[in-house]
Amino acid sequence: MEPRAFFVAGRPAYGEGELTVRHPYDGRPVGRTTVATPDQVEAAVAAAAGVAAEAAALPAHVRAAALDHVSRRLAERADEIADLITAENGKPVRWARAEVGRAVATFRWGAEEARRYSGELQRLDTDPTGDGRVALVRRVPRGPVLGITPFNFPLNLVAHKVAPALAVGAPIVVKPAPATPLTALLLGELLAETDLPAGMFSVLPLPNERAADLVTDPRLPVVSFTGSGPVGAAVRRAAVEKHVTLELGGNAAAVICADWAADEDLTRAAHRIATFGTYQAGQSCIAVQRVYVHEWLYDGFLPRLVAAVQELRTGDPRDEHTDVGPLISVAAAQRVESWVDEAVAAGATIEVGGRRSGASYPPTVLTGVPADARISAEEVFGPVLVVARVVDDEAAFAAVNDSAYGLQAGVFTHRTDVAFAAARTLQVGGVIVGDVPSYRADQMPYGGVKGSGVGREGVRSAMDDYTEPRVLVLAL
Ligand code: SIN
Repeated sequence: MEPRAFFVAGRPAYGEGELTVRHPYDGRPVGRTTVATPDQVEAAVAAAAGVAAEAAALPAHVRAAALDHVSRRLAERADEIADLITAENGKPVRWARAEVGRAVATFRWGAEEARRYSGELQRLDTDPTGDGRVALVRRVPRGPVLGITPFNFPLNLVAHKVAPALAVGAPIVVKPAPATPLTALLLGELLAETDLPAGMFSVLPLPNERAADLVTDPRLPVVSFTGSGPVGAAVRRAAVEKHVTLELGGNAAAVICADWAADEDLTRAAHRIATFGTYQAGQSCIAVQRVYVHEWLYDGFLPRLVAAVQELRTGDPRDEHTDVGPLISVAAAQRVESWVDEAVAAGATIEVGGRRSGASYPPTVLTGVPADARISAEEVFGPVLVVARVVDDEAAFAAVNDSAYGLQAGVFTHRTDVAFAAARTLQVGGVIVGDVPSYRADQMPYGGVKGSGVGREGVRSAMDDYTEPRVLVLAL
């Protein structure tokens, strides 16, 4: 197995040592790369800083053409890339295909937004002192971006950092997750096919400990990090003088409101929650984790949820029919197991699931979980649902807010007044009405409040984040 090249200032490179990537399902090696040396890291950062002015001045059509190219090539190589995602991340191949489809759209959105990102003309004659004047407000890149990406979406969460950076003309240095670097390197191959100036992108496989120097390097004034809360907090502390975006996960909740009472409503909600509590083995920041059900619907809902979870097929993620594959590692599955065991010791009941095998943990439903148990209060990042009854919608919203996190929430209701009350009350970045919190369209602003982070991704929102306004006043 030849090692895959990484990218330093747009050119393929090989570093030192060996980084072997293993399939989370069976541990077999699926690819190799090498680790960037300190000199290569320096070359990547120096090139990003050196090309920043040229990148910012690139015409929109050049940036858009590069983004369109990547979108097209991802679509052309979709099956191969989906297989690679499954191989290094372990997510079932049909979810991997969905991820590739989303990345195609993320780059397409980058191209479209690059073409229409024009700024704003603001009139100043609103007061006598502004007579005869207008302001042209355009956004200019803050400078090169450091993108630190997680293992759970090895392609699309890289795309969400790269596409907006290129769309605004900002160079980017990507540090992919050590468990899943191969897809990011393949994306590097596609970027290398474009006419972007050398230095505009680098993709550097590095152990996490070596990211600290990049986070503090003043030549990378923007840091966009997706990952765990404690690491995000450390990034924020280390980069106080920088512009930092943090996407840090959560313990997303779904609410079954009092009016969601018809048989078909409960059945639909049960299937959506079963699927999106366990997709990618629960390793999504917006996977359903907590479910609050109105007390008079609880006895009808719980058996439907248990039945829907029992229908999910577990096993080899390469199998087309598999719904739930392994977690990223045995250690990750052991952590989930220990949190479930802890909840059971505190009085919880396992309604279905609950027996680990290697890196796989079965789709699991728990009831009677104390609100402060880690399986409810912390981000589980595993295929476990915690179901609780609530006396009314207000109590449900209060329970959703009783969390250190606030990324997205799902509210199953038909009533517009309840939908608006949810949007007003819930302390989250997004409320999804009539569906699970796991819904995300890649052009939407996406991000959280409280422990879920700061800033927003979603192509246009990230473009705003990577730029700052520059005002030109014309006294005519
Ligand atoms: C995440 O895990 O934060 C990303 C979820 C998604 O893009 O669907």
